[in-house]
Amino acid sequence: MSGLLAIDQGTTSTRAILHGPDLTPLATAQLPLAQHFPAPGWVEHEPEEIWSASLATMRQALAKGGMAAKDLAGIGITNQRETTLLWDRRTGRAIHRAIVWQDRRTAAHCARLVAEGAGGLIAERSGLLPDPYFSATKLAWLLDNVGGARAAASRGELAFGTVDSFLLWRLTGGRVHATDATNAARTMLFDIRRGSWDADLLRLFDIPESLLPEIRDNAAAFGETAPGLLEAAVPVRGMAGDQHAAMLGQACFTPGMVKSTYGTGCFLLLNTGATAVASNNRLLTTLAWQLGGQRTYALEGAIFIAGAAVQWLRDGLGLIRDAAESGALAARSDPAQPVYFVPAFTGLGAPHWDAEARGALLGLTRNTGPAEICRAALEAVAFQTRDLVEAMQADWSSAGGGTVLRVDGGMTASDYAMQALADLLGAPVDRPVVQETTALGAAYLAGLQAGLLPPPGPAAAHWRLDRRFQPAMPRAEADRRHAGWQDAVRRVLTR
Ligand code: G3P
Repeated sequence: MSGLLAIDQGTTSTRAILHGPDLTPLATAQLPLAQHFPAPGWVEHEPEEIWSASLATMRQALAKGGMAAKDLAGIGITNQRETTLLWDRRTGRAIHRAIVWQDRRTAAHCARLVAEGAGGLIAERSGLLPDPYFSATKLAWLLDNVGGARAAASRGELAFGTVDSFLLWRLTGGRVHATDATNAARTMLFDIRRGSWDADLLRLFDIPESLLPEIRDNAAAFGETAPGLLEAAVPVRGMAGDQHAAMLGQACFTPGMVKSTYGTGCFLLLNTGATAVASNNRLLTTLAWQLGGQRTYALEGAIFIAGAAVQWLRDGLGLIRDAAESGALAARSDPAQPVYFVPAFTGLGAPHWDAEARGALLGLTRNTGPAEICRAALEAVAFQTRDLVEAMQADWSSAGGGTVLRVDGGMTASDYAMQALADLLGAPVDRPVVQETTALGAAYLAGLQAGLLPPPGPAAAHWRLDRRFQPAMPRAEADRRHAGWQDAVRRVLTR
């Protein structure tokens, strides 16, 4: 019993990756996830599709890797965070589609909270700021807009969860309603310093406590798979939000280490050790992980659109056929053209937090073509990363000037994008051999709980460098282009 099966339920796809006991990836299965946009700014997922794809990919990964369920030491779940589900405890069926983290329908609710002066309480307790990104206002929306939901909630008939809890509920046949501390930290209902649900925040958002899952460590006994799902019962031993799992997969175990994951969005997390650092620069204070009841904290910068900008070039504009072509096309661009692309499709996240901002392409001339637009899309990711790193350095002096960024996620396969990142950031960028670090982190948690893998410090030996990208652009040029980017951003801000 040595296999470690990670489920990585992401925003645009569901993956299961089978790992060996030493964390070597053995087999992968992946299914896309349909995106539903019922109104402008609204984004939903079908809960049954999340579940069926998770189960199907788990079975496929096992079959591809030539393993049976009885060969597994455990399952680790990692997931798109904040996405909110509310389901009937009796049937296990969600009462509405999942409201996805990108969804902006509760922007007015958040603006009201700011106007009423609730921002201070929210920041102090949860480490977050009032933005539709987090779960609390989405859950309040479901309770207020799905017929009969509040009454059913008051009778104790409903259960709330982020994707991790929903999958755990389904995997255990409805026997376990639990989440982990990192996912709880993204709800805006959790006290990050005490590590528990917060009564004042529950009151502020009018959320009945009966809805909430129990909060556990990231490596814990989460229950066993229900009979009939796999051919043997398998313990779920690990659970973490995807960015926190990536932090573990990137072995960012020491305070000061930073990782940045480039998926749909980009999420930069800095390990701040045992200290929950409050941000003066509109970053989020969050958990890196909780193990053995001990919390390790992180500062987080969240950018909503990274890889999704390249997807838009492909699916929206038809400029490329494949995301992998973006680097080659950008490399053919005219470097003299200062084109800027602000991909604020769903507002801007850190450090601006402007839910109403929308995207813009600036600096266009008759000579501007697909190559320049493509370069601007890749550079936008680098500029936004620089904004976050600078905010982190201002918040936490120990973040220092010597930052090396560990990167992962789909976009990091592009050498062009990673070199542009190092150049515009003015810091080295390290790409590991295993770029599926999110799944790796979930497998690690399962292996840790199973006693197969060592605790974080010694586990750093699993991390291997593929390539370091050194900054080659003169600093003055990088600064000049960054100033152009900041000017472009100012033009789309609504406040
Ligand atoms: O906070 C949202 C984040 O967890 C989503 O990550 O990789 O699914 O885009 P991803």
